[in-house]
Amino acid sequence: MKVVIIREFGAPDGLAVAEAPAPEPAAGQLLVQVEAIGVGGVDAVIRRGTLGGYGFREGIVPGSEVAGTVVAVGEGVDASWRGRGVWAFTGVGGAYAELAVARIEDVTPLPDGLSPVDAVTLGSAGPVAHFALAHARFAPGESLLVRGAGGSIGIMAVQLAARDRAGVIAVTTSSPERGKRLAELGATVVLDRTGEGAPGAEFDAVLDVIGGPALPSFLDRLADNGRLVAVGVVGGHPPADFGMTLMRSFQRSRSFATFSLNTVPVGERNRVRSGQFAAAARGELRPVVHDVLRLDDAGEAHRRMDAGEVFGRIVLTP
Ligand SMILES: NC(=O)c1ccc[n+]([C@@H]2O[C@H](COP(=O)([O-])OP(=O)(O)OC[C@H]3O[C@@H](n4cnc5c(N)ncnc54)[C@H](OP(=O)(O)O)[C@@H]3O)[C@@H](O)[C@H]2O)c1
Repeated sequence: MKVVIIREFGAPDGLAVAEAPAPEPAAGQLLVQVEAIGVGGVDAVIRRGTLGGYGFREGIVPGSEVAGTVVAVGEGVDASWRGRGVWAFTGVGGAYAELAVARIEDVTPLPDGLSPVDAVTLGSAGPVAHFALAHARFAPGESLLVRGAGGSIGIMAVQLAARDRAGVIAVTTSSPERGKRLAELGATVVLDRTGEGAPGAEFDAVLDVIGGPALPSFLDRLADNGRLVAVGVVGGHPPADFGMTLMRSFQRSRSFATFSLNTVPVGERNRVRSGQFAAAARGELRPVVHDVLRLDDAGEAHRRMDAGEVFGRIVLTP
Protein backbone atom coordinates (compact mmCIF):
# COMPACT_ATOMS: atom_id res chain seq x y z
CA MET A 1 0.00 0.00 0.00
CA LYS A 2 0.97 3.61 -0.45
CA VAL A 3 2.08 5.58 2.63
CA VAL A 4 3.75 8.90 3.32
CA ILE A 5 6.76 8.75 5.64
CA ILE A 6 8.90 11.36 7.36
CA ARG A 7 12.05 10.56 5.35
CA GLU A 8 13.95 13.40 6.98
CA PHE A 9 13.00 15.65 9.91
CA GLY A 10 12.74 19.36 9.10
CA ALA A 11 11.06 21.03 6.11
CA PRO A 12 7.85 19.75 4.43
CA ASP A 13 9.88 18.28 1.54
CA GLY A 14 11.23 15.74 4.05
CA LEU A 15 7.89 13.94 3.61
CA ALA A 16 8.04 11.22 0.91
CA VAL A 17 5.65 8.75 -0.70
CA ALA A 18 6.69 5.11 -0.09
CA GLU A 19 5.39 1.55 -0.32
CA ALA A 20 4.72 -0.46 2.84
CA PRO A 21 3.15 -3.84 3.60
CA ALA A 22 -0.58 -3.64 4.35
CA PRO A 23 -1.09 -3.79 8.13
CA GLU A 24 -3.07 -6.62 9.75
CA PRO A 25 -5.53 -5.86 12.54
CA ALA A 26 -4.32 -7.40 15.82
CA ALA A 27 -6.72 -8.58 18.55
CA GLY A 28 -9.09 -5.76 19.43
CA GLN A 29 -8.29 -3.76 16.28
CA LEU A 30 -10.00 -2.85 13.01
CA LEU A 31 -8.48 -2.30 9.57
CA VAL A 32 -9.80 0.79 7.78
CA GLN A 33 -9.69 1.47 4.03
CA VAL A 34 -8.83 5.14 4.34
CA GLU A 35 -10.91 7.74 2.49
CA ALA A 36 -9.83 10.88 4.38
CA ILE A 37 -6.88 11.83 6.59
CA GLY A 38 -6.91 14.83 8.94
CA VAL A 39 -3.71 16.89 8.86
CA GLY A 40 -3.08 18.57 12.21
CA GLY A 41 -0.66 21.11 13.67
CA VAL A 42 0.84 18.37 15.81
CA ASP A 43 1.82 16.44 12.62
CA ALA A 44 3.94 19.45 11.64
CA VAL A 45 5.59 19.52 15.06
CA ILE A 46 6.48 15.80 14.71
CA ARG A 47 7.74 16.34 11.13
CA ARG A 48 10.09 19.09 12.29
CA GLY A 49 11.72 16.56 14.63
CA THR A 50 10.90 18.57 17.74
CA LEU A 51 9.42 15.52 19.49
CA GLY A 52 12.37 13.15 19.03
CA GLY A 53 12.51 12.86 22.81
CA TYR A 54 9.07 11.24 22.72
CA GLY A 55 10.28 8.40 20.48
CA PHE A 56 9.41 9.83 17.03
CA ARG A 57 12.04 8.66 14.52
CA GLU A 58 12.72 9.31 10.83
CA GLY A 59 10.94 6.73 8.66
CA ILE A 60 7.64 6.78 10.59
CA VAL A 61 4.23 7.25 8.97
CA PRO A 62 2.73 10.39 10.59
CA GLY A 63 -0.90 11.31 11.26
CA SER A 64 -3.40 10.16 13.85
CA GLU A 65 -6.87 10.59 12.38
CA VAL A 66 -8.62 8.84 9.46
CA ALA A 67 -12.12 8.09 8.22
CA GLY A 68 -13.14 5.36 5.82
CA THR A 69 -14.63 1.86 5.64
CA VAL A 70 -13.80 -1.11 7.89
CA VAL A 71 -12.41 -3.91 5.69
CA ALA A 72 -11.18 -6.40 8.32
CA VAL A 73 -11.43 -7.01 12.06
CA GLY A 74 -9.01 -8.58 14.52
CA GLU A 75 -9.75 -11.28 17.07
CA GLY A 76 -12.43 -10.29 19.57
CA VAL A 77 -14.01 -7.62 17.35
CA ASP A 78 -17.57 -8.18 16.12
CA ALA A 79 -17.58 -9.05 12.40
CA SER A 80 -20.59 -6.74 11.89
CA TRP A 81 -18.11 -3.80 11.87
CA ARG A 82 -17.00 -4.90 8.38
CA GLY A 83 -18.34 -2.54 5.73
CA ARG A 84 -19.22 0.25 8.21
CA GLY A 85 -18.09 3.84 7.73
CA VAL A 86 -15.99 4.99 10.70
CA TRP A 87 -13.77 7.72 12.07
CA ALA A 88 -10.65 6.32 13.78
CA PHE A 89 -7.80 7.57 15.93
CA THR A 90 -4.70 5.62 14.87
CA GLY A 91 -2.49 6.61 17.81
CA VAL A 92 0.78 8.48 17.44
CA GLY A 93 1.13 7.72 13.72
CA GLY A 94 0.00 5.51 10.86
CA ALA A 95 -2.70 7.73 9.34
CA TYR A 96 -0.96 8.99 6.15
CA ALA A 97 -1.70 5.68 4.40
CA GLU A 98 -4.18 3.84 2.20
CA LEU A 99 -4.96 1.40 5.04
CA ALA A 100 -4.78 2.06 8.77
CA VAL A 101 -5.37 0.05 11.95
CA ALA A 102 -7.06 1.35 15.09
CA ARG A 103 -8.19 -0.07 18.43
CA ILE A 104 -11.94 -0.69 18.58
CA GLU A 105 -12.27 1.78 21.47
CA ASP A 106 -10.77 4.53 19.30
CA VAL A 107 -13.39 4.17 16.56
CA THR A 108 -16.61 6.18 16.12
CA PRO A 109 -19.23 5.17 13.51
CA LEU A 110 -20.14 7.79 10.88
CA PRO A 111 -23.81 8.75 10.75
CA ASP A 112 -25.63 8.99 7.40
CA GLY A 113 -25.00 12.39 5.87
CA LEU A 114 -21.48 12.95 7.25
CA SER A 115 -18.64 12.54 4.74
CA PRO A 116 -15.24 11.09 5.72
CA VAL A 117 -13.70 14.52 4.91
CA ASP A 118 -16.05 16.26 7.35
CA ALA A 119 -15.46 13.53 9.95
CA VAL A 120 -11.68 14.09 10.07
CA THR A 121 -12.31 17.84 10.29
CA LEU A 122 -14.41 17.46 13.45
CA GLY A 123 -13.38 14.11 14.95
CA SER A 124 -10.44 15.26 17.03
CA ALA A 125 -10.91 19.04 17.25
CA GLY A 126 -14.57 18.84 18.29
CA PRO A 127 -14.05 16.81 21.47
CA VAL A 128 -10.95 18.88 22.37
CA ALA A 129 -13.02 22.09 22.12
CA HIS A 130 -15.95 20.58 24.04
CA PHE A 131 -13.93 19.23 26.97
CA ALA A 132 -11.64 22.28 27.10
CA LEU A 133 -14.72 24.53 27.49
CA ALA A 134 -15.97 22.19 30.22
CA HIS A 135 -12.52 22.31 31.88
CA ALA A 136 -12.84 26.12 31.87
CA ARG A 137 -16.27 25.67 33.55
CA PHE A 138 -17.65 27.83 30.77
CA ALA A 139 -21.37 28.55 31.39
CA PRO A 140 -24.17 30.05 29.22
CA GLY A 141 -24.18 33.84 29.34
CA GLU A 142 -20.48 34.11 30.21
CA SER A 143 -17.96 35.92 28.03
CA LEU A 144 -15.33 33.88 26.20
CA LEU A 145 -12.12 34.68 24.32
CA VAL A 146 -10.80 32.05 21.92
CA ARG A 147 -7.13 32.78 21.23
CA GLY A 148 -6.01 31.23 17.93
CA ALA A 149 -9.57 30.78 16.71
CA GLY A 150 -8.69 30.14 13.04
CA GLY A 151 -7.51 26.58 13.67
CA SER A 152 -9.70 23.50 13.82
CA ILE A 153 -9.98 23.58 17.63
CA GLY A 154 -10.80 27.30 17.80
CA ILE A 155 -13.41 27.07 15.04
CA MET A 156 -15.18 24.33 16.96
CA ALA A 157 -14.92 26.23 20.27
CA VAL A 158 -16.55 29.30 18.70
CA GLN A 159 -19.42 27.23 17.29
CA LEU A 160 -19.99 25.28 20.51
CA ALA A 161 -19.98 28.47 22.60
CA ALA A 162 -22.46 30.10 20.20
CA ARG A 163 -24.70 27.02 20.49
CA ASP A 164 -24.46 27.30 24.31
CA ARG A 165 -25.60 30.94 24.15
CA ALA A 166 -22.36 32.58 25.28
CA GLY A 167 -22.53 36.27 26.19
CA VAL A 168 -19.58 37.62 24.22
CA ILE A 169 -17.49 35.36 21.96
CA ALA A 170 -14.25 37.19 21.19
CA VAL A 171 -11.57 35.71 18.92
CA THR A 172 -7.99 36.52 18.02
CA THR A 173 -7.00 36.14 14.39
CA SER A 174 -4.49 37.58 11.91
CA SER A 175 -6.74 39.18 9.30
CA PRO A 176 -10.11 40.92 8.90
CA GLU A 177 -11.04 38.29 6.28
CA ARG A 178 -10.56 35.49 8.83
CA GLY A 179 -12.41 37.60 11.40
CA LYS A 180 -15.36 37.82 9.01
CA ARG A 181 -15.42 34.06 8.59
CA LEU A 182 -15.26 33.57 12.38
CA ALA A 183 -18.13 36.04 12.83
CA GLU A 184 -20.19 33.90 10.44
CA LEU A 185 -19.53 30.95 12.77
CA GLY A 186 -20.62 32.83 15.91
CA ALA A 187 -17.82 35.20 17.02
CA THR A 188 -19.18 38.55 18.23
CA VAL A 189 -15.87 40.45 18.71
CA VAL A 190 -12.80 40.14 16.47
CA LEU A 191 -9.37 41.04 17.91
CA ASP A 192 -5.93 40.93 16.36
CA ARG A 193 -3.33 38.42 17.56
CA THR A 194 -2.22 40.71 20.40
CA GLY A 195 -5.79 40.95 21.68
CA GLU A 196 -6.11 44.59 20.70
CA GLY A 197 -9.48 45.84 19.49
CA ALA A 198 -11.62 45.69 22.65
CA PRO A 199 -9.82 47.93 25.14
CA GLY A 200 -10.50 47.06 28.75
CA ALA A 201 -12.73 44.09 27.98
CA GLU A 202 -12.33 41.20 30.39
CA PHE A 203 -13.42 37.62 29.92
CA ASP A 204 -14.88 34.93 32.18
CA ALA A 205 -13.04 32.25 30.21
CA VAL A 206 -10.13 32.23 27.76
CA LEU A 207 -9.40 29.19 25.59
CA ASP A 208 -5.79 29.54 24.48
CA VAL A 209 -4.39 27.47 21.62
CA ILE A 210 -1.26 29.66 21.32
CA GLY A 211 0.71 30.04 24.59
CA GLY A 212 4.04 31.73 23.74
CA PRO A 213 5.55 34.99 25.05
CA ALA A 214 2.21 36.87 25.04
CA LEU A 215 0.39 34.46 27.36
CA PRO A 216 0.74 36.72 30.46
CA SER A 217 -1.05 39.59 28.70
CA PHE A 218 -4.02 37.28 28.11
CA LEU A 219 -4.04 36.17 31.76
CA ASP A 220 -4.45 39.88 32.46
CA ARG A 221 -7.64 39.92 30.35
CA LEU A 222 -9.42 37.61 32.82
CA ALA A 223 -12.34 39.00 34.81
CA ASP A 224 -12.67 38.30 38.56
CA ASN A 225 -12.91 34.49 38.92
CA GLY A 226 -11.89 34.17 35.24
CA ARG A 227 -10.28 30.95 33.98
CA LEU A 228 -7.68 30.59 31.20
CA VAL A 229 -7.27 27.09 29.81
CA ALA A 230 -4.20 26.35 27.68
CA VAL A 231 -5.08 23.84 24.95
CA GLY A 232 -2.06 24.15 22.67
CA VAL A 233 1.33 25.77 22.26
CA VAL A 234 1.21 26.89 18.61
CA GLY A 235 3.25 29.99 19.58
CA GLY A 236 5.72 28.08 21.81
CA HIS A 237 6.00 27.90 25.58
CA PRO A 238 5.15 30.93 27.75
CA PRO A 239 7.83 32.74 29.79
CA ALA A 240 8.94 30.74 32.83
CA ASP A 241 7.53 33.36 35.23
CA PHE A 242 4.07 33.66 33.57
CA GLY A 243 2.36 32.63 36.83
CA MET A 244 3.48 35.92 38.39
CA THR A 245 0.66 37.63 36.47
CA LEU A 246 -1.83 35.63 38.52
CA MET A 247 0.01 36.18 41.78
CA ARG A 248 0.13 39.96 41.20
CA SER A 249 -3.66 40.01 40.82
CA PHE A 250 -4.20 37.62 43.75
CA GLN A 251 -7.36 39.37 44.99
CA ARG A 252 -9.15 38.67 41.70
CA SER A 253 -9.27 34.84 42.08
CA ARG A 254 -8.17 34.22 38.50
CA SER A 255 -6.90 30.80 37.47
CA PHE A 256 -4.82 29.01 34.84
CA ALA A 257 -5.04 25.35 33.77
CA THR A 258 -3.76 23.15 31.00
CA PHE A 259 -6.09 20.74 29.26
CA SER A 260 -5.31 17.55 27.34
CA LEU A 261 -7.90 15.24 25.82
CA ASN A 262 -5.72 12.35 27.05
CA THR A 263 -7.22 12.85 30.51
CA VAL A 264 -10.79 12.29 29.26
CA PRO A 265 -12.00 8.65 29.39
CA VAL A 266 -12.20 7.24 25.87
CA GLY A 267 -15.92 6.39 26.23
CA GLU A 268 -16.68 10.05 27.03
CA ARG A 269 -14.73 11.21 23.98
CA ASN A 270 -16.69 8.79 21.76
CA ARG A 271 -20.01 9.90 23.24
CA VAL A 272 -19.27 13.58 22.55
CA ARG A 273 -17.80 12.85 19.09
CA SER A 274 -20.91 10.85 18.11
CA GLY A 275 -23.13 13.72 19.25
CA GLN A 276 -21.08 16.24 17.27
CA PHE A 277 -21.09 14.02 14.16
CA ALA A 278 -24.89 13.78 14.39
CA ALA A 279 -25.15 17.57 14.87
CA ALA A 280 -22.93 18.15 11.81
CA ALA A 281 -25.02 15.71 9.74
CA ARG A 282 -28.11 17.77 10.73
CA GLY A 283 -26.29 20.96 9.70
CA GLU A 284 -26.03 22.33 13.26
CA LEU A 285 -22.20 22.32 13.32
CA ARG A 286 -20.08 23.37 10.34
CA PRO A 287 -16.92 21.43 9.55
CA VAL A 288 -14.55 24.00 8.03
CA VAL A 289 -12.40 22.26 5.43
CA HIS A 290 -9.59 24.47 4.12
CA ASP A 291 -8.75 22.16 1.21
CA VAL A 292 -8.66 18.52 0.17
CA LEU A 293 -5.38 17.31 -1.39
CA ARG A 294 -4.12 13.92 -2.56
CA LEU A 295 -2.04 11.83 -0.15
CA ASP A 296 0.91 12.32 -2.56
CA ASP A 297 0.65 16.06 -1.81
CA ALA A 298 1.21 15.71 1.95
CA GLY A 299 4.33 17.89 1.62
CA GLU A 300 2.27 20.68 0.03
CA ALA A 301 -0.32 20.36 2.84
CA HIS A 302 2.46 20.84 5.40
CA ARG A 303 3.95 23.75 3.44
CA ARG A 304 0.57 25.52 3.57
CA MET A 305 0.28 24.83 7.31
CA ASP A 306 3.79 26.18 7.93
CA ALA A 307 2.96 29.29 5.87
CA GLY A 308 -0.10 29.97 8.08
CA GLU A 309 -2.44 29.72 5.09
CA VAL A 310 -4.80 27.14 6.58
CA PHE A 311 -8.16 28.23 8.02
CA GLY A 312 -9.82 25.15 9.54
CA ARG A 313 -8.62 21.72 8.50
CA ILE A 314 -6.59 20.47 5.58
CA VAL A 315 -7.52 16.93 4.52
CA LEU A 316 -5.69 14.30 2.43
CA THR A 317 -7.35 11.57 0.37
CA PRO A 318 -5.48 8.43 -0.80
N1 LIG B 1 -5.20 19.78 24.30
C1 LIG B 1 -5.39 18.75 23.50
O1 LIG B 1 -5.91 17.71 23.88
C2 LIG B 1 -4.93 18.87 22.09
C3 LIG B 1 -5.33 17.95 21.12
C4 LIG B 1 -4.88 18.13 19.80
C5 LIG B 1 -4.03 19.19 19.49
N2 LIG B 1 -3.66 20.04 20.48
C6 LIG B 1 -2.78 21.18 20.22
O2 LIG B 1 -3.51 22.19 19.56
C7 LIG B 1 -2.65 22.93 18.72
C8 LIG B 1 -3.18 22.91 17.29
O3 LIG B 1 -4.53 23.40 17.27
P1 LIG B 1 -5.18 23.92 15.93
O4 LIG B 1 -4.95 22.87 14.87
O5 LIG B 1 -6.56 24.36 16.24
O6 LIG B 1 -4.30 25.19 15.70
P2 LIG B 1 -3.50 25.73 14.42
O7 LIG B 1 -4.34 25.63 13.23
O8 LIG B 1 -2.15 25.11 14.38
O9 LIG B 1 -3.33 27.26 14.87
C9 LIG B 1 -4.46 28.02 15.22
C10 LIG B 1 -4.32 29.45 14.75
O10 LIG B 1 -3.38 30.13 15.54
C11 LIG B 1 -2.93 31.28 14.83
N3 LIG B 1 -1.48 31.37 15.02
C12 LIG B 1 -0.53 30.62 14.42
N4 LIG B 1 0.69 30.95 14.88
C13 LIG B 1 0.50 31.94 15.79
C14 LIG B 1 1.36 32.69 16.62
N5 LIG B 1 2.70 32.50 16.60
N6 LIG B 1 0.82 33.62 17.44
C15 LIG B 1 -0.51 33.83 17.48
N7 LIG B 1 -1.40 33.14 16.70
C16 LIG B 1 -0.89 32.20 15.88
C17 LIG B 1 -3.34 31.07 13.37
O11 LIG B 1 -4.50 31.85 13.12
P3 LIG B 1 -4.43 33.40 12.66
O12 LIG B 1 -3.45 33.46 11.53
O13 LIG B 1 -5.85 33.65 12.25
O14 LIG B 1 -4.02 34.17 13.86
C18 LIG B 1 -3.78 29.62 13.34
O15 LIG B 1 -4.79 29.36 12.40
C19 LIG B 1 -1.27 22.29 18.82
O16 LIG B 1 -0.50 22.99 19.78
C20 LIG B 1 -1.61 20.89 19.30
O17 LIG B 1 -0.52 20.29 19.99
C21 LIG B 1 -4.10 19.92 21.74
